[in-house]
Parts: sequence; C-alpha cells; structure tokens
Amino acid sequence: MSISKIGVFTSGGDAPGMNACIRAVVRGARYHGIEVYGIKRGYSGMIEGKINKMNSKSVSSIIQRGGTILKSARSEEFRTAEGRKKAFENLQEHGIQGLVCIGGDGSFTGANIFYKEFGVPIVGAPGTIDNDIYGTDFTIGFDTAVNTAVEAIDKIRDTASSHDRVFFIEVMGRDSGYIAIRSGICGGAEIVMVPETSTTIDDVVRILESEKKRSKTSSIVIVAEGDEEGNAMEIAAKVKKRMDFLDIKVTTLGHVQRGGSPTAKDRILASRMGLYAVEGLLKGEKDAMAGIVKDELVYTSFEDAITKTKHLSQDLLRMVDIFNNRH
Ligand code: F6P
Repeated sequence: MSISKIGVFTSGGDAPGMNACIRAVVRGARYHGIEVYGIKRGYSGMIEGKINKMNSKSVSSIIQRGGTILKSARSEEFRTAEGRKKAFENLQEHGIQGLVCIGGDGSFTGANIFYKEFGVPIVGAPGTIDNDIYGTDFTIGFDTAVNTAVEAIDKIRDTASSHDRVFFIEVMGRDSGYIAIRSGICGGAEIVMVPETSTTIDDVVRILESEKKRSKTSSIVIVAEGDEEGNAMEIAAKVKKRMDFLDIKVTTLGHVQRGGSPTAKDRILASRMGLYAVEGLLKGEKDAMAGIVKDELVYTSFEDAITKTKHLSQDLLRMVDIFNNRH
C-alpha cells in the first residue's frame, strides 16, 4: 500500500531544532504529494485526537525557533494497552498511514511497541539534548545545548577567577555524559565527572590539591546530572568537608539548556533527518530511526536504537586530563 497521509509529532523532553525537523517533515511530505497531520503534545494528543492538517505555510518562520510548535509531553496513558488502542483509532479516523516521531529513547520505545501492536509504520528522528541514542552520532538539540552550557561556563569562569573560587557546575544529560564532556572541554574545565567513568571524591580532592600546589586559584568542575557520586550540590558538600579552606559555589544550569534558537549545525541536522524520515516511510521503513553516522544518513531499527549503548568517546575523556597537565 502506498502512503498518502502521514502524521508528525514531538515527544519527550523538547530540544532546540525540533521545529526545524517538523518543517522538514511537512515540506518534504508536501514535495512528495503527501498530506501531513500535526499531532499535538506527542502520544497524549494522539490519544485525545488533537490532530490537525498542516501545510507548507504552517511551518513558515519556525526554523530558527526553539521549543516545538506541536508541543511535547511524556504520556503515561500511552504506556497502557487501552491508551494505545485509542491512539490507533484516532489515527484511523484521520486515515493516517504512517508516522514521524521526533523524540528520544522513551518515545522510540513507545513507537516500537505501537508498531508491533498495530502495524502502523513509524520512522523516528532523534530529538534530545542528551545525545544518548545508538545509531546516530548526533541528536537534534545536542549541539545547541552544548553551546548554551559553554556560554554559561565562560561567564562563570570570569567570576570564579575574580574571587578565587571553585565552581561545581551541573549540566543535563540524564544518564549520559555527552553534554558534560563536550562543554567541559570547551570551557577548559579542570575536572569533568560523568556517569560513564568513575571519578571519586578522593580523585576530586587529589586533583584540586595538586591545582593548589601549582598556584591555581580557581577551578571549574563539570558534573553530569547522572554522575554516580551524586548531584553537584552533594559532591560540592562532600569536597567542602575535606577541603574547608576552599571557597566553593554550585551552579545547576537546568532547563536553560533545553531552550533557545538552534545552532546552524542543529538546523541542518534536523532538516536532513526530517526529510530522510519522510522518505524512509515512502521507501517502506516501518520501525526504524533516521540517524547520521560519519555524516551519512542511515536507518537503524528502533530495537537497536533503544537497546544498544552509544559509548562516550574515550579520546575526549583523556583530553581533559592531558590538557590539565596531570601527566
Ligand atoms: O532528556 C532531556 C532532559 O533534559 C534530561 O537531560 C533531563 O534529565 C530531563 O530531560 C529533564 O526532564 P524534565 O524536563 O521532565 O524535568
């Protein structure tokens, strides 16, 4: 059966570049003569029937905007068989034969189950600031989030150095250290703590002591929110107990990392992935994600995308040590 009507939705945590991706899906679909429906608030809107026809004009002037014009949600109801049945019935009512899901691993887990239950072809475009999805080197929003974090670190560096302080800066990433490692390198952080490797409180104390011996008067420690030693506040308190002479401050960057105008890199990535997702549906992809590997577009099954782990580059971790003269 050839596809003539598709739906598009954004799901899970929003990410800068999602709008650029929606635009690519809508304009790509219209180019191929396909009708497109926008589904509001992810799976929640699918269940509630919040489904509206879109055209080229609906996506005018959004490529530069952060957030998502379709809004996003994490739907509890879609986790139930009853919720998914309602969603399927609403799609049928609109004659929707395929879906593009812009979201992260939770959204793709839902898509995978939905495809298996109802056979509605779904292609994903990875949109999350966390960059934690297997099958793509980069996710939509990651580059913007890293740039936002770097801008903040640079500003904190100014005040840290004026007051001879040690700052613990917490960045997002859920269970992954991608934002932490890249923003840490760009911000010249003395220490980067990520969930993928163990950096103990002993290690932090030892490094800060050696910085002091080298007459370094201020330092930046980047903490990924999922670090095994705890959050930035907890880690800072443990270090303060051992080094009470230090003037320690903590900054949690939080949701500022999720907003803002997408970088050029994210706009390009989102546009490529959106078009590739639509064309995937037309070529018969059903249960897969569009991704980018070594700058080439590829499809990866949802099964692999959600179960396999993308490993943090050891090269990047090594660089933090090397650039801080610890060898
Ligand atoms: O997945 C994106 C993300 O921003 C994570 O980095 C973070 O752990 C989580 O979402 C926060 O979720 P919420 O916006 O629901 O608090």
